[in-house]
Amino acid sequence: LKIFSGRSNPVLASKIAKSAGKKLGKISIKTFSDGEIWVKYEENIRGCDVFLIQSTNGPSENILELALMADAAVRASASSVSLIIPYFGYGRQDRKDQPRVPITGRLIADLITTAGSDRVMMMDLHAGQVQGFFSATVDELTALPILASYFVEKKLDDWVVVSPDIGGTKRARDFANKLGAPLAIIEKRRIGNKDTVEALNIIGEVKDRSAILFDDEINTGGTMIAGSKILKDNGVKDVYVAATHGVFPNSSLSKIIRTDDIKEIVVTDSLPIENENSKLKILPISELLGEAIKRTNRGESVGALFL
Ligand code: R5P
Repeated sequence: LKIFSGRSNPVLASKIAKSAGKKLGKISIKTFSDGEIWVKYEENIRGCDVFLIQSTNGPSENILELALMADAAVRASASSVSLIIPYFGYGRQDRKDQPRVPITGRLIADLITTAGSDRVMMMDLHAGQVQGFFSATVDELTALPILASYFVEKKLDDWVVVSPDIGGTKRARDFANKLGAPLAIIEKRRIGNKDTVEALNIIGEVKDRSAILFDDEINTGGTMIAGSKILKDNGVKDVYVAATHGVFPNSSLSKIIRTDDIKEIVVTDSLPIENENSKLKILPISELLGEAIKRTNRGESVGALFL
């Protein structure tokens, strides 16, 4: 068993390796002055079960870097190559939702599996059916129990879990079931192809409750900001926003933190987040991923982690 990291989130990768009882293996990754990427394993991996940790969030070079790492591992005679992708970027582009657009999630899946991988392990995909884009074996892990434990410890008894859009209803229902809380759903509309979001209606009772707006990811925060406003307008006491992945491009995290309607932002460290703030809680996923790697390597159940 050897574990290597790309450059998308080396801090998380070394925590995952530690929790799997390993040190990160030696690998050189360079970007030449013309922008081309070069990869070399600096130790023997012949006959090894190799785990490569890299998310496919922007910049898009992260994807190519992962494909190059997989290709090099196959050519160096690794016995098996497993890709650990804590955040599968481009996963939201999972269908042709308007004319003349690509299904980018499928293309990325083809690219990285064609490069050579036996297994892909990801966390909380935007849509579960994205698993079917991969010809390799897929394990989808979830941070839902980690997020649920955090809220259970708050010991509040008037929760409502809210899905910020209709598409996220199943995910929010699973979370509500874990907390024993009721569910409400916001009807959301995206305006054009921009990041602008409008929250239109709420289905369910939210008045005088504390709401957890629960999603797979927070990107620009438009969804959570619009959702928290409509919840406050409908008599919610406090709005907590929670998601597995905090993408937060540019200054979006500061904007969410400045939103008075939001009491707390809870995400995991699946993506690197530099901002520190008392309104921001980052929960670690390295133990879960480290344990999943160990179990995979020993041929034990990964699903048993979530029973
Ligand atoms: C998409 O439907 C996802 O589940 C999230 O709701 C979305 O990625 C959030 O994006 P943003 O924070 O930019 O509104």
